[in-house]
Amino acid sequence: MNFELTEEQEMIRQAARDYAQRELIKDVLERDEKAIFPEKHIKNISELGFMGMMTSPEYGGGGMDTVSYVLAMEEFSKVDASVAVVMSVNNSLVCYGIEKYGTEEQKRKFLVPLASGEKIGAFLLSEPEAGSDATKQHTTAEDKGDHYVLNGTKNWITNANSASTYIVIAQTHPEKGHHGINAFIVDKNTPGITLGPHENKMGMRSSDTHSVMFSDVKVPKENRIGEDGFGFKFAMKVLEGGRIGIAAQALGIAVGAFERAVAYSKERKAFGTEIANHQSVAFKLADMDVKIENARNLILKAAWLKDMGKPFTVASARAKYYAAEIAMQVTTEAVQIHGGYGYVKEYHVERLMREAKLTQIYEGTSEIQKIVISRSLLR
Ligand code: CAA
Repeated sequence: MNFELTEEQEMIRQAARDYAQRELIKDVLERDEKAIFPEKHIKNISELGFMGMMTSPEYGGGGMDTVSYVLAMEEFSKVDASVAVVMSVNNSLVCYGIEKYGTEEQKRKFLVPLASGEKIGAFLLSEPEAGSDATKQHTTAEDKGDHYVLNGTKNWITNANSASTYIVIAQTHPEKGHHGINAFIVDKNTPGITLGPHENKMGMRSSDTHSVMFSDVKVPKENRIGEDGFGFKFAMKVLEGGRIGIAAQALGIAVGAFERAVAYSKERKAFGTEIANHQSVAFKLADMDVKIENARNLILKAAWLKDMGKPFTVASARAKYYAAEIAMQVTTEAVQIHGGYGYVKEYHVERLMREAKLTQIYEGTSEIQKIVISRSLLR
């Protein structure tokens, strides 16, 4: 088995690391504190090719594999998970969804500007009463012949304000349950779309999260993705890939906190020696290291399976579940190792701990991942 990365994968990792360590770090605390969207950084990472890195060059993307993508996600998330989530939603939910399931016309019109980073995308599935139970869509898409009319509310939408292009999941045939659901590509400037206020989040505060309301929003029929009724399967397939990205984000958050804990424990002295020399700290670091290594292996395996065109539903659920859980554990231990300093903003680990929490919640909670894994075992 070959665990070595290719030269190209190493280069991509290095490019992401350089940008994160040199640029993102400068204003990450201020953007977190004031919940400022990282506009300048998104523009810069678009120019570096990260916003559509997995999309084929034919549609303006970087044509890179999923392994490269998770390496970049880890590096950005080590410093700033908010920038990473904007990139993740654009790459693995929106660009991937359109490239894999869209028509040629949809790809030319919508995918090309998204893959170049000229535009940002958002994925609108969750609703006030359809979070984990995603089949219970209340947003309706009424078929009017040559167009659909959308009505309803979406919740917790990442990139809701910064995006220009939405993928919206809505119910067309309620009598058919999840087989009646459709997915649509919707221009955010379409009349009838309004946004709720910016959500004042606990972590990943500089990514923009809003609810989105649809009131008689006209969407051309050619904007539907796939056959009539394909929307729920579409969402599930796209989320499988998205979960690999969020797993890599959780890993990066854990690594960011871990590296800070290692450095701090080699500097900070207590009881006459650096705290790393106390087994109570050294053993914590060993536990953190093993968890990180396990998470990385699960993520790389899921990414590799996807790149090989093999089934990866369970692999991505395992990776997302495990990486999110250990991110919470590792960041909590990093705060503990820092003692009082860990509880104030300047040392970053409290922010990383707040960011880790969200990875257990979005793109399917840890419990949802366990449903996916256990069902595959018990089927
Ligand atoms: N691929 C293809 N089809 C799938 C599938 C998959 N991975 N998973 C389920 N399906 C299909 C099933 O085959 C079934 O189809 P048929 O009826 O034709 O056989 C259908 O979907 C329904 O499946 P289930 O009966 O298993 O559905 P369920 O409701 O019991 O469970 C679930 C499904 C896994 C719990 C699902 O609802 C789910 O993933 N929920 C979580 C939703 C989620 O992740 N939300 C995140 C929002 S996006 C986000 O957070 C992005 C962001 O902003 C960062």
